Amino acid sequence: MKKILVTGSLGQIGSELATALCNRYGANNVIISDIREKRSDDETAECKCAVLDVSNVKQIARIVHEEKITVIYHLAALLSATAENNPQLAWDININGLYNILEVAREYNCAVFTPSSIGAFGPTTPAENTPQDTIQRPTTIYGVTKVAGELLCDYYYKRFGVDTRGLRYPGIVSYKTLPGGGTTDYAVDIYYEAIKQKKYTCFLKAGTFLDMMYMPDAIKAAIDLMEVDPDRLAHRNAFNVTGMSVDPEKIAASIRQHIPDFVIDYDIDPVRQGIADSWPNSLDDSAAREEWNWEPEYNLDRMTEEMLKCLKEKLL
Ligand code: SER
Repeated sequence: MKKILVTGSLGQIGSELATALCNRYGANNVIISDIREKRSDDETAECKCAVLDVSNVKQIARIVHEEKITVIYHLAALLSATAENNPQLAWDININGLYNILEVAREYNCAVFTPSSIGAFGPTTPAENTPQDTIQRPTTIYGVTKVAGELLCDYYYKRFGVDTRGLRYPGIVSYKTLPGGGTTDYAVDIYYEAIKQKKYTCFLKAGTFLDMMYMPDAIKAAIDLMEVDPDRLAHRNAFNVTGMSVDPEKIAASIRQHIPDFVIDYDIDPVRQGIADSWPNSLDDSAAREEWNWEPEYNLDRMTEEMLKCLKEKLL
């Protein structure tokens, strides 16, 4: 039986992934962890919860040893805009944190899931239908940590046999826990503001196309990838995956099918616009489809319908 540790469990992906893992493997087989104590308003799994700073290798080793962990979903990381504000901290958490996890995984023979990102690409990457294997010269510290992380995970697999696997996530949209400090966060904020005031001021320009994915698909992708027979995997770190390629106008049009008087206007944040402009417009996820049958369930309109319905219940 798998015994799972999730780091960054109180973050946007971690909180929902932890719940899905508890449902699938049993709450007794999942330990959630984060750098801070869980609060009563945190929407996450009901299971054992530890405070864990991923920059402390001894703390990680202690939990893995005591709890007999076999799989680590390592989600603790800074997102792109926050990372750009504090590159040193971003390196420390995103790289040294991952290195510590991999070292403990090597010692205790754990499998490791690590999210990479569309941020692992840069301005010289082909922007349309970005291939699985292509140029990766990102110009953000976030991207630098993601590419280095992909390489480090592949290295630990080849050199030490650690079962590392990863996904290049696009922007993740969900109605439960908010993302924090990402360039794609507008695609979540827009739904909150549509419900609250039928109006949204976007920090990215109209026409800025980026890949997005609805949370249930992001969770399914992580679990399916970690369950697939390793003999099928030609790639490991990390697979392109996407649910849709959209810009703010496309999301606004989809919202207007439900809220006809919804209005979008723009107040551009040059930092996040610069980051978005350096990322692909659309990913080719055929390697994931071939190697482990990846297929998203949500397109833009289906996601919009569910986001608006769930946020109405949550906010009104
Ligand atoms: N959602 C992330 C960000 O915007 C991309 O991986 O930083």
